[in-house]
Amino acid sequence: MKTYVVTGADRGIGEALCIECQARGDRPVAACLGDSAALREHGIEVVPGVDVTSATAVAALAQTLAGRRVDVLVHVAGIVIERPLGAFDYSALQREYDVNALGPLRVTEALLPLLHAGARIGIVTSRVGSIGENSSGGLYGYRMSKAAANMAGVCLARDLYARGIAVGLLHPGSVLTEMTRGLADTATVGTLVEPAVAARGLLARLDELDLASTGSFRHANGQTLPW
Ligand SMILES: NC(=O)c1ccc[n+]([C@@H]2O[C@H](COP(=O)([O-])OP(=O)(O)OC[C@H]3O[C@@H](n4cnc5c(N)ncnc54)[C@H](OP(=O)(O)O)[C@@H]3O)[C@@H](O)[C@H]2O)c1
Repeated sequence: MKTYVVTGADRGIGEALCIECQARGDRPVAACLGDSAALREHGIEVVPGVDVTSATAVAALAQTLAGRRVDVLVHVAGIVIERPLGAFDYSALQREYDVNALGPLRVTEALLPLLHAGARIGIVTSRVGSIGENSSGGLYGYRMSKAAANMAGVCLARDLYARGIAVGLLHPGSVLTEMTRGLADTATVGTLVEPAVAARGLLARLDELDLASTGSFRHANGQTLPW
């Protein structure tokens, strides 16, 4: 039984990851921005108030988990704030960077003492952060912050290799959540997968992650993605 710490577990993919993780016999710790009565009802341990942009909140998470062994740390917390070129809100762009790119770094640094040789870190970024696949433009803050998160993940993969900790960059697929409900039109909503499907794929990729594949960027369906 492995202990998984999952950020952004309040809803969507993070919530599903915790439920799937527990269903297969592992032990999830749901680090929620707010709280989650639903996960508590599943018997899942919830740590409330984990804002990944707050050094204080992240330190409190580390304090709560002190002395425990974390086998897998999964960064799921993320936001998207869509503003078109010509109407950018630069504080919103900075907010996306803070949550999506700096959030995983902040949490990783704080929990590093709990990670041991053989531990894994998954950062849920997005194929939308792939420079090579950007054929449509738009979503500047989201794309830029996810590309930065990919770079952070590769840096972590290199820096943590000697400690035996593997790091994977993960795209969950196109998933029906609050995030995509705000962006997708009715034609595309039908093509989105349920969070549970994405969660099972992410767990399968995390199972496969090791020092030979550290620093890779993969779709939950197993495909390797271009940077
Ligand atoms: N859905 C997709 O198709 C898709 C595709 C590619 C990548 N992703 C990525 O997958 C991850 C999960 O997305 P989702 O679709 O499940 O989105 P979601 O339903 O909007 O969930 C996002 C989660 O992040 C939490 N969060 C937001 N700001 C936070 C902060 N400052 N600190 C800690 N947690 C915070 C939210 O908490 P609250 O509920 O309390 O606001 C929520 O639990 C994100 O990183 C997203 O970019 C999603």
